[in-house]
Amino acid sequence: MIIIRAEDVGLKTNMLRIQQTIKQGGLVVFPTETVYGIGADATNPEAVKRIFYAKGRPSDNPLIVHLADLKDLETCVQNIPNIAYPLMEKFWPGPLTLVFQKKAIIPQEVSGGLDTVGIRMPSSDVARQVIRAAGVPICAPSANLSGKPSSTLFKHVVEDFSGNVEIMIDGGQVQIGLESTVLDLTTPIPVLLRPGAITKKMIEEVIQIGIMDATQDDVKETPKSPGMKYTHYAPKGEVTIIDGSFDHVITYINQTVRKYPPNEVGVIAPSEYIESISAYYKVNLGSLTNLNEVARNIFLALRQMDALKIKMILIPALPKEDLGQAIMNRLNKAAGHRIIHV
Ligand code: TXA
Ligand code: MG
Repeated sequence: MIIIRAEDVGLKTNMLRIQQTIKQGGLVVFPTETVYGIGADATNPEAVKRIFYAKGRPSDNPLIVHLADLKDLETCVQNIPNIAYPLMEKFWPGPLTLVFQKKAIIPQEVSGGLDTVGIRMPSSDVARQVIRAAGVPICAPSANLSGKPSSTLFKHVVEDFSGNVEIMIDGGQVQIGLESTVLDLTTPIPVLLRPGAITKKMIEEVIQIGIMDATQDDVKETPKSPGMKYTHYAPKGEVTIIDGSFDHVITYINQTVRKYPPNEVGVIAPSEYIESISAYYKVNLGSLTNLNEVARNIFLALRQMDALKIKMILIPALPKEDLGQAIMNRLNKAAGHRIIHV
């Protein structure tokens, strides 16, 4: 396995290495603006199977295909609805995945047996350099073992995949920290399948119609996106979300903390709460006035709790507006929807 620094990806020797590795069915871990991805040639079923094996991912959970250039879209998909164009114009490159009808070049292994495929064009220069070097569409799920929090630091991908991939690209900390928004464009009315940095409101402003939201906690029976039915982002400790007024949440957390040995309980919270919390292990997510920073710290905080072997993790519920919807979506999943209202 070789490690390449992000700033060296563009060197000719490295571009060649990436090209050869991908061509031979190898795996490359690389940073994107959202989270790290573990990528392979999306047109090579054997290479795709290696991703599922390396992650321990269920084979019916489809992968997102990453493109560097718009001209490659029609190689992968068909029946592009008109509504897609203003969205691509506005949000590509960037953290928005659009689900289209796939063409035969995208194998069933990528789409998890569906006849659709999620496509995104990352805004990260390093990610686009990797895709261009490869010369083929790159399918890449988040680079974490299945069920674990996504990776936002190079250290995390080393923990999860060292020795199991051919190339790892060290891009330090990613910019956004939450995976892309997933929007299904194969239905008459678009359906939001996963909230992310591109919010429902931002999408509706561009297309001028209301979209459906399949990410609300009460829509769980028939998941529209296969990824919705699996436990996600779960650290080893048990996560509980505490929802209520500031004072009630602080009181509940401090009472709970006192009942456990100090090294077994940890609190993850925005800075507004941190001072008032008496736990020994606290991770500060940053201020609620800067949700971008909070988003960037979520997966990091969950992984820190694992490193400390914390058994019980308490997290105050955050407001669900704008980026807050994506943040709470990930936290609710990490908690297995264990929410206490105080
Ligand atoms: O930001 C991201 O999207 C990152 C980076 C690496 O690009 N990738 C990522 O991939 O988060 P992954 O595999 O961890 O999540 C893909 C999500 C899953 O929930 C999956 O079920 C959904 O997208 N998905 C993919 N293809 C789909 C399809 N054809 N129909 C419905 N949902 C799909
Ligand atoms: Mg993932």
